[in-house]
Amino acid sequence: MKKLAIVFHSAHGHTEHLAHHVLDGARSVPGVEAHLLRAEDLAQNPDGLTPYDGLILGSPTYLGGVSGSFKTFMDATGRLWRSQGLKGKLAAGFTVSSLPAGDKQSTLMSMFVFAMQHGMLWVGNPFLPEQGQGVADGDAVNRLGSWSGLMAQAAHGAPAGAFVAGDLKTARMFGQHVAQTMGRVGGTIS
Ligand SMILES: Cc1cc2nc3c(=O)[nH]c(=O)nc-3n(C[C@H](O)[C@H](O)[C@H](O)COP(=O)(O)O)c2cc1C
Repeated sequence: MKKLAIVFHSAHGHTEHLAHHVLDGARSVPGVEAHLLRAEDLAQNPDGLTPYDGLILGSPTYLGGVSGSFKTFMDATGRLWRSQGLKGKLAAGFTVSSLPAGDKQSTLMSMFVFAMQHGMLWVGNPFLPEQGQGVADGDAVNRLGSWSGLMAQAAHGAPAGAFVAGDLKTARMFGQHVAQTMGRVGGTIS
């Protein structure tokens, strides 16, 4: 079995809700064991990442970047950087914010650079937006048009599950895609 960790922070529940859909997609792939891990817990114990073959990173977008709690987790992996403990693992990222753009790309880029600094292999979100194929905007896969990673939008103050169907479907497809990719190429380089 290959092991996949979905590492997330969520202050108000939106990112956590999306993480569960990413998890469902990942778990649909035979041969892959997927777990949700809280960034706050890993910040105390970054070695908890060692058994995993791949990481999916998830953070809300706060002021155009990852949240403070997620950055604390990232910084806690400094010793793993020195020992190259994450080298060769797969990495991918997702973010939630309240505005259609909201500078989500910047959040994904900080996750990408983090993964590159650790020598990880980045996996994107390779789905054509379905609006162009006659699907209603709210139901469309990758309606926000993000290939670097998964983006989703949730109105500020809305209940945690208040995503449009297209964003949740994209989340499941994204989790499935990362898990399938891990099945093909994942594994730590020694
Ligand atoms: C401090 C702070 C900064 C935020 N910055 C942005 C932002 O830059 N762009 C945006 O679209 N939404 C922004 N938001 C809205 C959050 O991204 C949004 O509410 C998100 O769903 C929160 O995720 P969570 O429920 O998992 O905590 C911000 C919210 C907070 C509290």
